[in-house]
Amino acid sequence: MKDLVLMKGIKKSFGKVQALKGVDFRVGESEIVGLLGDNGAGKSTLIKILVGYHQPDEGEIYFKGERVNFRSPWDARAAGIETVYQDLALVNLMPIWRNFFLGRELRTSLGFLKVREMKKITLEFLKKEVGITLRSADETVAFLSGGERQAVAIARAIYFGASLLILDEPTAALSVGETRMILNHILEAKKKGIAVVFITHNIYHVYEVADRLVLLEKGEKIGDYMKDEITPEKVMDIIAAAALGKP
Ligand SMILES: Nc1ncnc2c1ncn2[C@@H]1O[C@H](COP(=O)(O)OP(=O)(O)O)[C@@H](O)[C@H]1O
Ligand SMILES: [Mg+2]
Repeated sequence: MKDLVLMKGIKKSFGKVQALKGVDFRVGESEIVGLLGDNGAGKSTLIKILVGYHQPDEGEIYFKGERVNFRSPWDARAAGIETVYQDLALVNLMPIWRNFFLGRELRTSLGFLKVREMKKITLEFLKKEVGITLRSADETVAFLSGGERQAVAIARAIYFGASLLILDEPTAALSVGETRMILNHILEAKKKGIAVVFITHNIYHVYEVADRLVLLEKGEKIGDYMKDEITPEKVMDIIAAAALGKP
């Protein structure tokens, strides 16, 4: 499988905390990768480095075969990487349509926002692609449930033709039904050729949809398995042993 993302020897420290100690990470085209590990393992830091939210201390990053060094998540987004962060999912008072088109607004030739058209597309696309029926595109994101917010992000990735979607702990606060729905949307995204990095500390939330599982612990990669090679129980054992094993 062709590499979409290749990260080599990534190191990152925050003061005395060595969050990443030389991690290699790859994602193939249209591949769903579960990135697993206990709290503090370095999962969020690794993807924040990929998208330019943090700069690595050492290491190289390739996207679609080219060396990249995104300066900000906006750069990464322009290159086709959509991210939904765990800790930056602020309650958003912006209307949903503005969120959907943020940074990629439709404008007339004179530069005016095509507000009506963007609202219409938002309503129609969310309904068609992820089954969310909004009363109005003017509703704010704060009105959406956790699952619906994730679904909006997935729909946006599909609409704008992203090649990689990163979801950081998307199911952590979701009900069983909402989790089910998100997993289905992820499989739909894959069918459209989008690769997905699904971060979670719960193997059971990602096992079913993942093609590959990457295990991080204390800033190091401790496992990389095709899903068929390993059971969820074994994954739990490896993570638990690593968490207990080293101070
Ligand atoms: N901005 C930051 N400043 C200081 N320390 C951080 C920062 N971000 C992460 N860390 C530390 O780096 C380590 C890895 O964190 P993180 O990548 O968030 O782990 P995970 O997402 O796997 O739970 C933790 O020890 C965390 O406290
Ligand atoms: Mg995290």
